[in-house]
Amino acid sequence: MLSGIQLSEIAGSDLDLRATLVEAALPTDDIEDEGRTFFRASSNEGEIYGFSGIERCASDALLRSIVVLPSHRGRGIGLDIVVATLGRAGLGSDVYLATTTATAFFSRIGFVEVARDSVPSAVLATRQLSSICPSSATIMKLIKPPS
Ligand SMILES: CC(C)(COP(=O)(O)OP(=O)(O)OC[C@H]1O[C@@H](n2cnc3c(N)ncnc32)[C@H](O)[C@@H]1OP(=O)(O)O)[C@@H](O)C(=O)NCCC(=O)NCCS
Repeated sequence: MLSGIQLSEIAGSDLDLRATLVEAALPTDDIEDEGRTFFRASSNEGEIYGFSGIERCASDALLRSIVVLPSHRGRGIGLDIVVATLGRAGLGSDVYLATTTATAFFSRIGFVEVARDSVPSAVLATRQLSSICPSSATIMKLIKPPS
């Protein structure tokens, strides 16, 4: 991980979070609902690099809202944000995500594509998977957490 990345918990109502997700065409309809935890990733000096989120789904977790500001992409920050966010998800949870564009990116971290019929109902029932993300979205599960 880059030594300079700091994760700070923020509310779903954070305006920078919303604006960055909108710009990246990621879902915002449900970010102020209960059960979601969002983080701002910044440099030690407070420069915003991006955002991430975790949504609790019964005993499992959904990794969501992973976004790096366009000016900071391609420098490994996305990978660092995911690894740091998984560290906050807590051991003992299975972690899922849905993506339409970044399957290869998440494969780098130990996620593999899984069939919808193998995904727990509490994960499928999230608004991300049930109504916001297209049914064509790839669902991935973390099988080898980063060490
Ligand atoms: C996806 C995203 C978070 C990646 O952030 P990033 O900081 O640019 O990624 P990194 O620099 O850490 O990339 C790590 C590796 O993944 C690759 N990668 C990055 N984005 C990728 C993508 N969308 N698809 C496939 N591979 C990707 C990079 O090329 C890099 O590989 P390399 O080391 O062989 O060069 C960023 O592009 C983004 O915010 N996109 C818009 C929002 C989005 O699609 N989020 C994911 C869905 S929730």
